[in-house]
Amino acid sequence: DEQTRIKRIASSIRVIPDFPKPGVMFQDITTLLLDPKAFRDTVELFVERYRDMRISVVAGVEARGFIFGPPIALSIGAKFVPLRKPKKLPGEVISEEYSLEYGTDTMEMHVGAVQFNDRVLVIDDLIATGGTLCAAIKLIERAGAEVIECACVIELPELKGRERLGDRPLFVLVKG
Ligand code: PRP
Repeated sequence: DEQTRIKRIASSIRVIPDFPKPGVMFQDITTLLLDPKAFRDTVELFVERYRDMRISVVAGVEARGFIFGPPIALSIGAKFVPLRKPKKLPGEVISEEYSLEYGTDTMEMHVGAVQFNDRVLVIDDLIATGGTLCAAIKLIERAGAEVIECACVIELPELKGRERLGDRPLFVLVKG
C-alpha cells in the first residue's frame, strides 16, 4: 500500500551530514535512484496523483527536478519544461533572481515553452526555504500560466518553505 511505498522511499534516501558545508544534513536522492523499486514507486505516486488533474506541463527545476520530472510528464501525457541555471538555455529566456543563504541565484525559462492556458506542475527533489520553488512559480505565472501544484520528494518542514508558496498547493512524499 501507499504507506509501505513511502517508507521504502524514505529509507532509500541517504542523509550526509555537513555537506556541502558544516551543519547541513544533505538529503541525497542518488541512493533512491539505486533502488529501482523505490524510484518506480516515487514516480508512480506522483503519476497517480496527477494523471487526472489535466496537467499540460511538468516544469522541472535543475538539477534534480530533471530526474523526477520527465518520467512523470511522459506518463501523464504532459510536456516537460526545464527551468535552468543562468546562461544554459540557448533561446530567448525570462529570468527570476532569488536569494540563497549567501548571495543570489537566477532561474531561467524559455520564452514560449509555457503558454497562458497551460496547467503546470512544478517538480523538484526537495523544498528547504522555498526560495527555489518561488522563483519557478514566478516564471510560470509571468508566462500567464497557472501553477496547479508544486511537488517534491522531500520537505524540510522546519524551514517553513511551504509558507512562501502562498496559496499554491505543495505535495510531498517524505518529510526530512
Ligand atoms: C537544492 C534542491 C532544491 C533547492 C531547495 O538544490 O535540489 O532545488 O536546493 O532549496 P530552497 O527550498 O531553500 O530554495 P541546490 O541548491 O543544491 O542546487 P542543484 O540542484 O543544482 O544541486
